[in-house]
Amino acid sequence: MDGHMAFRQAPLLLVILFALVTGTFWASVAARTGPAHDKVVVCYISTWAVYRPGQGAYSIENFDPSLCTHVVYAFAGLDITQAAIKSLDPWQDLKEEYGKGGYERLTALKRSHPHLKVSLAIGGWNEGSKNYSTLVSNVEQRQYFAKQVSAFVRKYNFDGLDLDWEYPTQRGGRPQDRENFVALTKDLREEFDNNGLLLTSAIGAAKHVIDKAYDVRQISRYLDYLHIMCYDYHGSWDQKIGNNAPLTSSAVDPLSVQYSIDYLLQLGAPPSKLVLGLPFYGRTFKTVSQGNLNDASDGVGFRGPYTREDGFLGYNEICNILSNKTSGWSKQWDAETSQMLARSERNVFTQDVSVVTFDSSRSIANKVKFAMKKRLAGVMVWSVDTDDFLGNCELDEDTYADFRLVTSAPRRLNHNYPLLRTINEATSLALEELAADEVVVPDDSENEIPHGSIADRKNAATSIVSLGLTASFLYTILHSFTN
Ligand SMILES: *[C@@H]1O[C@H](CO)[C@@H](O)[C@H](O)[C@H]1NC(C)=O
Ligand SMILES: *[C@@H]1O[C@H](CO)[C@@H](O)[C@H](O)[C@H]1NC(C)=O
Repeated sequence: MDGHMAFRQAPLLLVILFALVTGTFWASVAARTGPAHDKVVVCYISTWAVYRPGQGAYSIENFDPSLCTHVVYAFAGLDITQAAIKSLDPWQDLKEEYGKGGYERLTALKRSHPHLKVSLAIGGWNEGSKNYSTLVSNVEQRQYFAKQVSAFVRKYNFDGLDLDWEYPTQRGGRPQDRENFVALTKDLREEFDNNGLLLTSAIGAAKHVIDKAYDVRQISRYLDYLHIMCYDYHGSWDQKIGNNAPLTSSAVDPLSVQYSIDYLLQLGAPPSKLVLGLPFYGRTFKTVSQGNLNDASDGVGFRGPYTREDGFLGYNEICNILSNKTSGWSKQWDAETSQMLARSERNVFTQDVSVVTFDSSRSIANKVKFAMKKRLAGVMVWSVDTDDFLGNCELDEDTYADFRLVTSAPRRLNHNYPLLRTINEATSLALEELAADEVVVPDDSENEIPHGSIADRKNAATSIVSLGLTASFLYTILHSFTN
């Protein structure tokens, strides 16, 4: 081949190369079907929400995969007689016998939203602790379980498993659960690594639970993420009014989000694996007093029309009440704890005042900022089905009141999911604010390579850069060839 021919072919080669590089570039831009930041947003769906009445009913078709990086299907159960994971609601979860196939309807969302990681959660409050304690106490059962779970989650195209044992050593568990839980995470990790599956766990946030239940350093080795359940710090069970999820507390009070996170970090949890849990619900109280914090209350609280559980009110139920100008409810912001308290007028018949303490969008934004400051992996949500997913309520105007750089709220194309949208906006805003402050924080992300989306995105980014480099290298060669 002489120089003349090479000269004539070069433009064609360049065109092909250019097409290849830009094609890859646009493909990767188009593949951004999730949040615009690189933090995790883990969204739990309590799948029994499908049975709620009226506008409270939430099905998988109500889920918006563009607002979360991870979604967790809650819950599957444990069949201790088989040492196996099982569906707790075969009609909703599976396709057999004309079932509704919930597992596969959720995992199918990955086709249109390739960024999404979908996990199946096992456990939850109602599953108790005892059978899990039995399972982990036996090596053969544990290892059988790890294999069975791996096959089960892959069968339905899940990306992983979320352990929701509430809690090792507690509620009928035994002291050995602490080390046996480490062994369970280790067995699962070894099995899951064969198939690139994610392993995460919901973790209790109360100090006394953390102390007894978790060898934090050890479980952090085997889990991809620890989802810290930073809520239920106070509720009707206290028989006095308290905040569901206060961001801060006095120095001696271990019942706050800040205490839980700082404590876990101190115990050796890597920030890059910690995921801060946010409640999309409030805790309810009934009192004959004024309805202030610490007022004595009955031990029951009240229930909402959709969630129908004493002492509990979904954010959608709360914002419906507060958006109703004739409901007589008023609200009060507490800057110290970043919590909102809402109270009814006194009922003329019962003489009761109804009170709910909850996270408003301003609470959520402030907690996201806290998580970003601590360089955590991101935030988790319990649960998306009680956000105002239909967009019935007025939007809060004070969401970013505690953000320095925000003068007006970001524009939204849609008014539904106000809390989830706040999480994604606040993540970007908080990261900008931190960058502006030029806070120098050591980046440990290189020695703690997380599984799943972060690593995937890094690799994707790297491959685009290297393609670009290859292209310019080839261009240089071709160019020199033609000269
Ligand atoms: C634990 O397992 C036993 C035996 O299968 C079962 O009867 C029981 O319901 C399980 N406990 C819970 C809380 O599911
Ligand atoms: C608003 O609150 C009032 C008083 O509680 C109630 O009668 C009415 O039905 C509520 N309106 C809506 C739309 O829920």
